[in-house]
Order: sequence, then structure tokens, then C-alpha cells
Amino acid sequence: MTPGDKKRTATPSATEGRKAEHVDLVVRERVEHRAKRTGFDDLNFEHNALPELHFDDISLETTLLGFSLKAPLLISSMTGGYTGAYEINRALGRAAEKFGLAIGLGSGRQALESAEQHRTFSVVREVAPKAFIFANIGGVEAARLHATGKSGELRRLIDLLQANALAIHLNPVQELLQPEGSRDFRGVLAGIESCVKTLTVPIIVKEVGSGISQSVARRLLEVGVRAIDVAGAGGTSWAGVEILRNGIGSRHNLEPFWDWGIPTAEALQQVSELRPEFGFDLISSGGIRTGVDVAKSVALGATAAGVARPLIQAFVEHDEEALFALVETFLFQLRAAMFLTGSSDIPALTRQRLHPRANNTDLS
Ligand SMILES: Cc1cc2nc3c(=O)[nH]c(=O)nc-3n(C[C@H](O)[C@H](O)[C@H](O)COP(=O)(O)O)c2cc1C
Repeated sequence: MTPGDKKRTATPSATEGRKAEHVDLVVRERVEHRAKRTGFDDLNFEHNALPELHFDDISLETTLLGFSLKAPLLISSMTGGYTGAYEINRALGRAAEKFGLAIGLGSGRQALESAEQHRTFSVVREVAPKAFIFANIGGVEAARLHATGKSGELRRLIDLLQANALAIHLNPVQELLQPEGSRDFRGVLAGIESCVKTLTVPIIVKEVGSGISQSVARRLLEVGVRAIDVAGAGGTSWAGVEILRNGIGSRHNLEPFWDWGIPTAEALQQVSELRPEFGFDLISSGGIRTGVDVAKSVALGATAAGVARPLIQAFVEHDEEALFALVETFLFQLRAAMFLTGSSDIPALTRQRLHPRANNTDLS
């Protein structure tokens, strides 16, 4: 049976069923970009054979939107709103608290409509009283709320999560390829601006794996967005997820879109050029698979790097211990990359330059 053959009516609502199906597919199937890579492998640090540091003295501490993190790592927005999300979010929340990371929740649209699955969201604050938590909503939903004069309703979602920020996701590829997705992306920027003006928490705008270009970032920053998560291509492909979900049932050949998007490292370089002009935090995500990717992201101007699929996979396929072990690996690799570049802290890592692979001979 292909994933597309699965019945979509097995869970209480279509939205809950879709969320469960997404997690199932992401964990079990190869849903990463195929031909397109993040671009981090083509960029190398200059190896420092004389670091003059003690590994244990290296500080990973940083701040995101004025909030202290123990490391520049965040658990990207994933889930909430169906029964199985409770345990996943509890584990992810516990990881955020244990390691002092930021954590995003999955889209909370359904939580605004029904209280039934609220605990699947609120559990994160219960287990992570000190973590930087951000709520999540789609750009299309932000547009709809604005058009009906209801942007303020998002306060209920922020209160439910006791969130420190709201992330608005832009996912035109996914919506287009999803049979029940929205094809109307008009008014999304106005919806985002309305959130900036109506809500007291900072607004982060993110993609979901196809990247944010410099020109899109500029339009977002001009309306007051405080952080941009490029969520570029090279990791999870939401076109891939929807293609697998549709299976043979889709009318058109969607394969050409599997690898659609701006590679993460390229998006990061484009958007970071705007940093001198606008004060904002830049988040790198989409295919972050090692702590070296995190280190390279910081060197390219990111405040923090986000990871989604590998973390949920570690928990769902294994257990909480596996999730914690994976986070520890990311942190060890980040610290090792800092050691091997002679970077004693995050500001020092920020000053490191990356070189195209062909031009040097180091091993990183
Ligand atoms: C199971 C799953 C569910 C996701 N749900 C959301 C979501 O609700 N909102 C959102 O902004 N991004 C969502 N994402 C996208 C991630 O936040 C991230 O941008 C994307 O997966 C790329 O990161 P990765 O390559 O590390 O997986 C989801 C990702 C996964 C794996």
C-alpha cells in the first residue's frame, strides 16, 4: 500500500487526520529534497591547527529576539492539534528545556477553532517553563484573519502556549500541491503586517523548505517582521510529502516540484545581506543535519539554526533518549567546529569566513 492509499477519515477531523498523516510520512518515507542540497557541503571553514582553546571552555550561549539560549539551536515548528501530537510535543518540549533551546509548535489554526486538542499545544509550556516558545500559523490564515478584522484572535493561541513569539509560515508550494490546500495567497503580507501591529509578541516569518529570497525578506522586514527563518531547500521537501500523500491519485505530474526552492545556504547569504539595513534575527533551517551545518549557518549570519525532521524521527522511531542523544550530538559537533576554527564563543564564530570547497583543502 502506498501512503496515498491510506484512508484519510480514520481520525476525528480532516485536519487532524492530515497532521497525523504528515508526521507518519515524514518519519517513514524519504521525503527530503532529492537533487537539491542545502549548499553547506560546498562551503568550508578554514581549519585552525592552533586553536589555543580548551574545548570545555567554549561558550555556545546566544540570544534570539532578546531571549537567552544555551545554544544557537531551535526545534523547528512541527506539530500539535491531534492526539498523537501530545507525546511528541512533550518530548520536544523536554528537550528544549533540558538543553536551553528555542522551540516552535506546529500550526495552531485548529486550536483557534476547537479546544479539543489544546493540551497537545499547552504541554510544551508545562514541561518547558523557561524555554523560548513560538506559536505558529499559516500566512493564508493570517490573511483571512486580517480580512475579517480578527488578527487579535491570535492572542488566544499565544496565551494557550504562553508563547514568546509567533511564527507565520509561508508555504505556497505545499498549499498548491495539497489537494485541499489554498491557492489564494493574496493579502498574506497585509495579514502579516496586521499581526505585527496587533500583537505584542515579535513576529517571525518562516518558509517550510523552499526558502526566502532577499526580495521577499525585504518586503517582510519593511512591514516590521522581527525575525526571518529562511527554511530553505535541501532538507524536508513538502512537495515530496504531498506527492507521496497524493500517490497515484493526483491529476498532474507534480514531480518537477519535488526539488523546488532556494537552497538554505544561498537563501541565508541573500537574506543576511539585509542585516546592516534592518535590525532582525536570522534563522537558518531546511536540511540542517549536523552541528557543522549549525556552525556554518552562524558564520553566514544566522542567529540560530532550526532542525525539524531528524528530531521528530528520533522520537517517533525510537524514544526520548534517542531525541536527547541527537540534540547532544548536534551540540557536540557545533562545539567541535568552534574548537577547530578557534572560536571561543558565538560572536567569534560569527567572524569566521567560509570558503568555497574547491579553494581549500581542509577536512570540515
Ligand atoms: C512533521 C512536520 C510538520 C511540520 N509542520 C509545520 C507547521 O505546522 N508549521 C511550520 O511552519 N512548519 C512546519 N514544518 C516545517 C519545518 O518547520 C521546517 O521548516 C522544514 O521541515 C524544514 O526543516 P527540516 O529539513 O529540518 O525538516 C513541519 C515539518 C515537519 C517535519
